Amino acid sequence: MGLTPRPDRRGGTRGRGDVPGPPHVRGPGPLGAPLRGPDPSTGEGEDRPDIEALLKAAGLVHEGVEDRIGEAVVAGLDSRVVGTASVEGFGELGHLRSVAVDQEFRGGGLGILLVARAAAVARDRGCTQLYAVTEDAASFFERLGFRPIGPKDALPEPIARTPMVRGQCSEDAVALQLALA
Ligand SMILES: CC(C)(COP(=O)(O)OP(=O)(O)OC[C@H]1O[C@@H](n2cnc3c(N)ncnc32)[C@H](O)[C@@H]1OP(=O)(O)O)[C@@H](O)C(=O)NCCC(=O)NCCS
Repeated sequence: MGLTPRPDRRGGTRGRGDVPGPPHVRGPGPLGAPLRGPDPSTGEGEDRPDIEALLKAAGLVHEGVEDRIGEAVVAGLDSRVVGTASVEGFGELGHLRSVAVDQEFRGGGLGILLVARAAAVARDRGCTQLYAVTEDAASFFERLGFRPIGPKDALPEPIARTPMVRGQCSEDAVALQLALA
């Protein structure tokens, strides 16, 4: 007896055992382009202007990208950076920051891929917990398994005292945690 495929959230159908396909991407697919980094040894400083522009357009902190270029994951389409995320490590604690997708490519799953890649990078670096802080994208992170833990003061001290969290996040920002171990 066959199983009746059930509609998935995007209107397709999925039967037991099927592997979900890649997220839908509008336009020329950035998913076909490699997610790369972080690897400061491969000259990815070339991505800096694109990353800065992306963060600025997304309303995120765009200063100091050059200092963090070795922590950045980017999604490239041809020679253009269309998405980025970054992990600052504090021993077993990781701070996921600067998650941004080019407006043109939002809603296609690229944000999920960037966070997944950044989480893998954090795990590879020995982080057991990953933290994010956001003013208005808390539900995006919650969909990915992050758990809200309170306002920014709830962050572990090394992350709470970073200039970005202390100086750039408002009191309304929400802190979230994802266990990696
Ligand atoms: C947040 C952001 C990175 C998401 O990128 P994206 O590529 O559009 O995300 P995805 O397509 O992978 O979205 C995955 C899911 O999260 C949802 N989502 C996307 N952005 C969201 C947001 N800001 N708030 C709540 N949910 C959001 C999507 O609707 C989607 O849900 P669905 O599968 O039910 O449709 C992007 O909107 C962005 O750059 N925002 C501005 C910068 C920002 O707020 N960054 C986060 C704090 S560092």
